[in-house]
Amino acid sequence: MEQTKLRKLTIDDVDQLQKIGIQTFSDTFSPMNTEENMKRYLDREFSLDKLKTELVDKNSEFYFVELENKVIGYLKVNLGRAQTEIQNENTLEIQRIYVLKDFYGKKIGQLMYEKAIAIAKQKKVDYVWLGVWEENHRAISFYKKNGFKAFDKHIFKLGDDEQTDIMMKLEIKA
Ligand SMILES: CC(C)(COP(=O)(O)OP(=O)(O)OC[C@H]1O[C@@H](n2cnc3c(N)ncnc32)[C@H](O)[C@@H]1OP(=O)(O)O)[C@@H](O)C(=O)NCCC(=O)NCCS
Repeated sequence: MEQTKLRKLTIDDVDQLQKIGIQTFSDTFSPMNTEENMKRYLDREFSLDKLKTELVDKNSEFYFVELENKVIGYLKVNLGRAQTEIQNENTLEIQRIYVLKDFYGKKIGQLMYEKAIAIAKQKKVDYVWLGVWEENHRAISFYKKNGFKAFDKHIFKLGDDEQTDIMMKLEIKA
């Protein structure tokens, strides 16, 4: 999309990050989960304190996609010990890649994905990986189209509900 800008976040962006984080997570997962489980997850994972800690972590990077100064998507990647699971320290995790509903299918996801791959190449990691809920068909086809392959399955807890995440990875060639 024209006029979209990718911008790296600082701690000053925490309020906007909380807003888009909660909005996109709710839009994506509320239809399939109870209100109580959603609230428990959102309160814990998107509290200002938690987000501030993540924003100052040297092993994590956040980016916004902005269109005319409106935030329409965000990306969070983790390196080294910031990864939510460490199979190998020299890998990069795409932990969050979210676009506002009104902007799905306009290559905003692709723009953020390419940023993640550029960071992975620059850091010379062995591979990029992520976990995606098995019911999230749109995201799974997005990753498959970009060459990711499933390599494992893990349990992810949303509130008290245990869900299966498919772990996918893409080898990075220098
Ligand atoms: C997954 C997501 C990041 C993709 O971003 P996007 O900007 O919508 O996707 P793009 O426009 O870059 O599309 C790229 C590819 O994604 C796939 N895709 C996009 N919309 C799709 C749909 N409705 N159904 C199936 N696949 C779809 C296609 O493979 C598409 O390629 P194509 O345009 O050549 O057909 C975005 O849809 C999103 O934020 N979803 C909700 C949040 C989420 O699930 N995040 C991932 C959590 S693991």
